Amino acid sequence: MINFKLYNNSYGEGAISFSRILERISLERSVEIIISVPATMINRLAEEISIPVFAQHVDASPLGAATGSITPELIKEAGAKGSILNHSERSMKLSELSDAINMMKVSGLESVVCVDRYELVAPVGLLKPTALLIEPPELIGTGRAISREKPEVITRAVDANRQGGKVFLLAGAGIVTGEDVYRSIELGADGAAMASAVMKSADPAKAVEGLVDGILRIREKRK
Ligand code: G3P
Repeated sequence: MINFKLYNNSYGEGAISFSRILERISLERSVEIIISVPATMINRLAEEISIPVFAQHVDASPLGAATGSITPELIKEAGAKGSILNHSERSMKLSELSDAINMMKVSGLESVVCVDRYELVAPVGLLKPTALLIEPPELIGTGRAISREKPEVITRAVDANRQGGKVFLLAGAGIVTGEDVYRSIELGADGAAMASAVMKSADPAKAVEGLVDGILRIREKRK
């Protein structure tokens, strides 16, 4: 999963051309790449790009008098397949998160719920999102990968997930190279999420090819 966040190339034409590169790599290498984009870009990207487009957050507001809310119904209508929820840059109260996950299910959307520590994996997993994304906030944007700096966070999250809800588990924060992705999956994650290594790269295609190599190496090893 590539979280576009709010960089220069996260919106407008830059986001479109960048997403085309990701679409090409995903198809050529047969690796699923999900993009999580600003709400204003969902509709255009979902119409122009074939890889899954996710939102970065949704509000758990019911239809009605809720000025400025962006809800599961709205992102679905715009073409999103799902959303990140509770990112540490957009954290949610537990009650709001639980409502949002349920509303996502009603709308037939996938939810990738972030947790900032492994102790939250089992309880949040019980809410049955599609996936959990474990990200220690102190490593986000640092280029110091969770799988190198805090491998025990991934292995403990994997154990907690096994005992808890058993949902897909992604690892993120500081991931830069294919080796970081490879290690994350070797430690038991089902996939990885990243932002700055790709969004801030002078050569995004090369950065993504490198990350995808990590997944292809695991695949080869597990044959
Ligand atoms: O959602 C993924 C993100 O928080 C990780 O950010 O910049 O450390 O890859 P980054």
